[in-house]
This record gives sequence, structure tokens and C-alpha cells, in this order.
Amino acid sequence: MRTPILAANWKMNLSRREAKNLVEDLLKAAYPVSGREVVLCPSFHLLTEVGAALQGRANYFLAAQNVYWKESGAYTGELSPAMLRDCGCTHVIIGHSERRAYFHETDKDCHSKVEAAMQNNLVPILCVGESLEQREADKTREVVLAQLQGALKGQSLSSGDRLVIAYEPIWAIGTGKTDTPEGAEQTISVLRQEVATMFGERIAQQVRLLYGGSVKADNIDSLMACTNIDGALVGGASLKADGFARIVNYQAQASLAN
Ligand code: PGA
Repeated sequence: MRTPILAANWKMNLSRREAKNLVEDLLKAAYPVSGREVVLCPSFHLLTEVGAALQGRANYFLAAQNVYWKESGAYTGELSPAMLRDCGCTHVIIGHSERRAYFHETDKDCHSKVEAAMQNNLVPILCVGESLEQREADKTREVVLAQLQGALKGQSLSSGDRLVIAYEPIWAIGTGKTDTPEGAEQTISVLRQEVATMFGERIAQQVRLLYGGSVKADNIDSLMACTNIDGALVGGASLKADGFARIVNYQAQASLAN
């Protein structure tokens, strides 16, 4: 059984005060939780304080939104995996489409980041997803498989719970357009099969695969009903405590797909 993950990607938002209020309100509305994990991904300046607020809160985890693969040295503006651990992070987002688009991150960069994260005991949340153009050209499968292989080929993975993959179609991010549960399930099951080919069936059954792209309180239940969807990476809707609490407290429905 894979434990679902509800992850909040705050992106470049929130002051320290706003973050403090948001975490307080969220914990009031969605703590304790059982049978699911919550991962908060604040911007760098909030990591230590959010980490402190989550201290001792079972099933709540802290993630950074990016990492550099070097251990230390003259890399102005970057943070190493050890620095993220020092702030209390257990997870890190790697290869988000905004980093790929605006900061020119390549699959090779993602590979180095995944490797460095894993070596430092951070769980990578590796993001993959196709653009609208690629989708319309029927290239979704090809694009997401190339991203997956580019970041994961040759990595050593002893247990599937040390890796999370988020399928985030770019056309669905921040647009209010969500993939259908059936569409997301289909692409995510293709990704799981590829993980099985690369790392074996046991690991593929352990890896958590999330959907991201305009996840909201009113679509989380149907997404979570899909067999292969193990959670969500949530942007905009994670910035409001009540909305994200509803996502964390999603209602399990009868399975849509087997
Ligand atoms: P969104 O963002 O929920 O605002 O669409 C998701 C993401 O970029 O991770």
C-alpha cells in the first residue's frame, strides 16, 4: 500500500507572517492526519520557520523547491542538499516546469540534482509534463518518458519510497484546466510501467506518483479515486488554508480505474 502525499508548492509567494498564519490555520483544519502525508514546499527564506512549526507533527514534512548538486563552494546563490537538510527538509522538488522554462534546467541537470538529493537522504519530487503543443501533437507519452529516463537513468534506488514523481501537464498549471482523472491516470500508469522497466516491479509499486496542475478542493476526490494516482502537487490552491485543508482531507471514493 502506498501512502498518499498531498504536497503544497507555494512557489515564490508568502511573507514570513503570511506563512506563519497559513501553517497555523492549516494545522488547525488538517491535523492530525492519518493514512496520508503532507509535504509543504515553501520558498527558501521560510524553510527554517516552517520546519520549526512542523516539528513533532506526525505525517507533515518539509521540502525545498530547488537544490544544487554540489556539496559546497563558489556557487553564488545556490543551496546544497546538506544545507536543505540543515533547514529540516526531507524532500525537494526537482525539475518543475517553471525551472525548466525560465531557468533552462535540462534533464541532465535534473539527473545531477536527483542523484545529489538521494545521496544526501532527501526524497526528490521529480516533475515531468508536456506542453500544450506537445499534447496536441500527441507527444505526451514520448515527452514524459524522455524526462523520466533523462533524470533517472543509472540512478541507484534501493527502495521506491525514496522517490516521488509528479506528472504535471504544463497546460494545466495555474490555468484552471485540469487533466481528467482518466487522462491523468493513463499517463501516470505509463510512468509507473517505465519505473518498473528501469528499477523493477517491486520498486515501481512503492514509488508515489502524484498529479499536479490546477488541483483544487472540488477535483481532488475524483483524482484520488484513480488506482495509480498517489497524491497531488498543488500550487495556487495550497496558498489558502481552508482550500488546502480540504485537499489534505480528501474523501476516498470507490476506485475509478483498476
Ligand atoms: P497549480 O500549480 O496547482 O497552481 O496549477 C501546480 C504546480 O505548479 O505544482
